[in-house]
Amino acid sequence: MEILPCVKAEKRRGEEIRRALKELELLRPDARIISNADFIYLPLIRALKEEDKGKIGAAELLTRKFEILEQKRSIEDIVGLKPSYEIIGDVAVLTDVDSRGGNEQLVANALMSLHKNIKVVTKRISPVEGVFRKRKMTIIAGENRTETMHKENGCKYKLDLGKVYFNPRLASERNRVAAQVRGSKEEIIDMFTGVGSFSIQVAKRARQSHVTAIDINPAAIRYLRENIKLNGVRNIEAIEGDVREIYVKFRNKADRIIMNLPKSAYLFLREALSMLNPQGGILHFYDVESSYSDVREEKIKSLERAIHKAKEKLAAKVKEACEQEGFHFQLKILKAMKVKPYAPYAYIIGVDAGIENETGSHRI
Ligand SMILES: C[S@@+](CC[C@H](N)C(=O)[O-])C[C@H]1O[C@@H](n2cnc3c(N)ncnc32)[C@H](O)[C@@H]1O
Repeated sequence: MEILPCVKAEKRRGEEIRRALKELELLRPDARIISNADFIYLPLIRALKEEDKGKIGAAELLTRKFEILEQKRSIEDIVGLKPSYEIIGDVAVLTDVDSRGGNEQLVANALMSLHKNIKVVTKRISPVEGVFRKRKMTIIAGENRTETMHKENGCKYKLDLGKVYFNPRLASERNRVAAQVRGSKEEIIDMFTGVGSFSIQVAKRARQSHVTAIDINPAAIRYLRENIKLNGVRNIEAIEGDVREIYVKFRNKADRIIMNLPKSAYLFLREALSMLNPQGGILHFYDVESSYSDVREEKIKSLERAIHKAKEKLAAKVKEACEQEGFHFQLKILKAMKVKPYAPYAYIIGVDAGIENETGSHRI
C-alpha cells in the first residue's frame, strides 16, 4: 500500500476522468483504482497543479492509500516506449528519453516503481567532456545525490557520477584484463585509473602484483583511496597527477600498462614506453575508431576496418616514440577487438600489445 494523491469522482464520470488523466500522463499506472457504489478514486503520479484542474473538471482532490500492483509490467507497458538507461549502483541514468519523444518524468517514476533498488533517476546533460572525462548530470526523481556504490565482478566502487568517469559497460573488459594477471607477480601501471575501475579488479586477482594507479582528477583519486579500503586491497598505490608530468618517477618500472583513455591514449605512448620495463611488457591500449574508410565511396560499416585502424595507429605511434626516444622496442599485436560501440559507426577498440625488446630478451 502507498499513500498517493488522487482524484475522487462520481462513478458515472469515472471513465471520462480516467481517460483525461491518462492523456495528461498523470494517472499512476501501477496503483489499483478504487471504486465503490458511488465514487471512483484515481491514483496520480503527482499532486495536480492549478492548470491541470481545469482540464479535469469537477472532481475532488485528496490523498489516500492505494494497493500497488505486483504484476510484472515492463517499463514499455507503462510508458509506451523502451527507454535507454543504465544502472550504476542505485542510480538509473537515462540516456536518450528526450530525443525519442518520451516523458522523462514518467519514465523516471516508472523506473523507481518497477525497481525498488533504484533510489535516484538522473539524466545526462552533456557528453563525456574535458580532461577529467566527466558528464554533467541532472536529477529527475528520487534522492538528491549522484554519489553511489556500484558492484562489479565482486568489487565495490564508490563514485560520484557528476565528478568522475565511470562506465558500467566496461565490466567484461575489466574482467578480461584482470583474468590475464590472475595469480601473477607483476608491476602494473594504470595510467588513467579513474576511481580504480581496472586497478581494483586487477589488484584483487593478483595479490602478489603491485599496481600504480594514476589519475589527474582529484575527486577520482579520493574515491580510489576509499575504494582501496572498501575492497581490502593493499597492493595499489594511488597517485594524483598528470601522467605527462609524473611519468619520469616510474621509468622502467612496469610489466603491464593499462591505457584506458580511448580518444587520446595514442598521445601518451612515449610516456607509456618510458614507464615500461626495458625488457618489454604488455600494453592494454584503447582507441576510438570509426568503421568508415577514408575513401568516400567506401562508406561501408565494417568493424574490421575500425580494428585495423586502431592497430595501425598503435604501430605508427610506437614506431615514432621509439625513433624519438631511442627505445629498442618492437610491437607484437596479441589481440585486437571491439570493446563497445562508441557512436554510430564508431567503436572503442581494445588492443593487447606485446612490447618486445629488440635484442630478443623479453618477458612476455
Ligand atoms: C576514460 S576515463 C577512464 C577511467 C577508468 N580507467 C575507468 O575505466 O573507469 C579516463 C581517466 O583519465 C584521466 N586523465 C585524463 N588525462 C590524464 C592525464 N594527463 N594524466 C592522468 N590522468 C588523466 C581522467 O581524469 C579520467 O579519470
